Amino acid sequence: MKNNISPAHGKLGVLVVGINGAVATTFIAGLFAIKKGYGKPFGSLTQLGTIRLGKRSDMNFPKINEFVPLADINDIVIGGWDIFDQNLYDAASESKVLEQKDIDPIKQELQSLRPMRAVFDNYYVKKLNGTYIKSAATKMELAEQLRADIRDFKSKNSVDRLVMIWCGSTEIYMGRNDVHNTIENFEKALQENDVNITPSMLYAYAAIMEGVPYANGAPNLTVDIPALIELSKHKNVPIAGKDFKTGQTLIKTVIAPMLKARMLGLQGWFSTNILGNRDGEVLDDPFSFKTKEESKLSVLEQILQPDLYPELYKNFYHKVRINYYPPRGDSKEGWDNIDIFGWLGYPMQIKVDFLCRDSILAAPIVLDLVLFIDLAQRVGMNGIQEWLSFYFKSPMHAPEVYPEHDLFIQQSKLKNTLRHIMGEDLITHLGLEYYEE
Ligand SMILES: NC(=O)c1ccc[n+]([C@@H]2O[C@H](COP(=O)([O-])OP(=O)(O)OC[C@H]3O[C@@H](n4cnc5c(N)ncnc54)[C@H](O)[C@@H]3O)[C@@H](O)[C@H]2O)c1
Repeated sequence: MKNNISPAHGKLGVLVVGINGAVATTFIAGLFAIKKGYGKPFGSLTQLGTIRLGKRSDMNFPKINEFVPLADINDIVIGGWDIFDQNLYDAASESKVLEQKDIDPIKQELQSLRPMRAVFDNYYVKKLNGTYIKSAATKMELAEQLRADIRDFKSKNSVDRLVMIWCGSTEIYMGRNDVHNTIENFEKALQENDVNITPSMLYAYAAIMEGVPYANGAPNLTVDIPALIELSKHKNVPIAGKDFKTGQTLIKTVIAPMLKARMLGLQGWFSTNILGNRDGEVLDDPFSFKTKEESKLSVLEQILQPDLYPELYKNFYHKVRINYYPPRGDSKEGWDNIDIFGWLGYPMQIKVDFLCRDSILAAPIVLDLVLFIDLAQRVGMNGIQEWLSFYFKSPMHAPEVYPEHDLFIQQSKLKNTLRHIMGEDLITHLGLEYYEE
C-alpha cells in the first residue's frame, strides 16, 4: 500500500463543529500552546507514541509520526461553527478548563478565531438556545449553506485538505429508520424537512459531499446510517465515530476484558458521574441523556459475551448515571462499583474513583483523529474507519460484525493498520520464532 499514499503537503484545514465548546477550545488552545512550546501533547498517540516494527529482537520502535506521513501540527488551520458568536479567547476563558495563565499567552491567536453561523434546532438539543444560526426554507438549503462555508474556508485559507470533527452537543436520541436507509430517501427527507434528519447529519452530509472526512465525537447517530455510509464510500471519504472514549468508558474497556480474560464473574456494575460543564447540563435533559446512555451501556455486553459465558455474565446488573453538578465544572468525578465473583462463587468488589478532566482527556483524541482520518484519506481509505475504534465509546462497524470495545484489541488493530498502510509485516504476538533452534 505504501506507494499509494499522497504526501501531507500544504495546509490541513480542521473544521470543528461546536468550536466554542469545552472540548474544542481545549484542543485548539492546546494546539497553539504546543506549537509555541508552552505545553506538551500528553495523551496523544500521534505525537508521543511509538510502534514496534519487525521482530521483538530487532528492537525497532520508530515514533508513529516518523513512521507514517501525518500532517505536521504546524500546518493545521482551524475553523468551525457554533451557535453562539464569541471569539475563542472568550469561549476558552468561559469554559474554565484551562487556567487563564495558560490561555493568556495565546490570546491573540484565539481572539482571531470566530465561529461560522451554525445549523441548529433547539428541538434536537433542548437545553440550548442558539442565537447564531442559519435559516433556510429546507434542510437541503441549510446543507448547501454548510457546503458553501466549507468551500469558502478552503479558498480563503488556501488549505490543501480538510477534515471535519463534531465536538458539538449531544442531540436527542434518534433511532435509525427509513429515511436513513438510502441516499435517495435521505436527500428527499432533506427537501421535505423530515424531523428524522438532525443538524449533525447536515454537517456530515455537507462534509462528505465536499469530499471532507468526518469524525463524530458525540454519541449522535449522525453518520452511522446506511445512507451516509454508502455516500462516504461513493465519494471516497473516510468517516469515523462515535462518542470520544475518554474517562469512565476508557476504564471500563480495560477492566472488563481483564475480568473475562481471567474468567471472573460479574454480578453488577454501577457507574455514576458528577460533572458541571455545559455538556453535563445538556445531558441533564433525558432525551440527550438517552443518546449517551445507549453509548455507555453497550460496551459491557459486547466485551463479556454473556451468551458464551452464561455462568459468569448472564443477568449482570449495569447502571450508568450522569448527574449535573455545577460546582465541579469540567472536572468530572466518575465512580464505578463493580461486584465480581471468583472461585466457588465468592464475592469481591472493585471500586474506581476517577477524578478526571473531561476535556483534558478529549483534546488529544481530537488531535489524533484529525491527523489519522486525514492520513486515511490520503491512503485512499473510505467509509467506516474501524481501526479508529480505539478513540470511541460506540465504534462504528460493518453490519456483519460486532463492534470491538476492548482497548488493547483496538490498539493492536490501529497499529496493525498503520503497519499495513506502510507495507510492514503485521504483528501477531505469536513469537514462536524466538524459541526455534
Ligand atoms: N469531554 C469528553 O470527555 C467527552 C467524551 C465523549 C463525548 N463528548 C462529547 O463531545 C461533545 C462536546 O463536549 P463539550 O464538553 O465540549 O460540550 P460543550 O457543551 O462545552 O460544547 C458543545 C458546543 O457545541 C455547540 N453546538 C451545539 N450544537 C451545535 C450545532 N448544531 N452546531 C454548531 N455548534 C453546536 C455548543 O454551543 C457548544 O459550544 C458533547 O457531545 C459530548 O457529549 C465529550
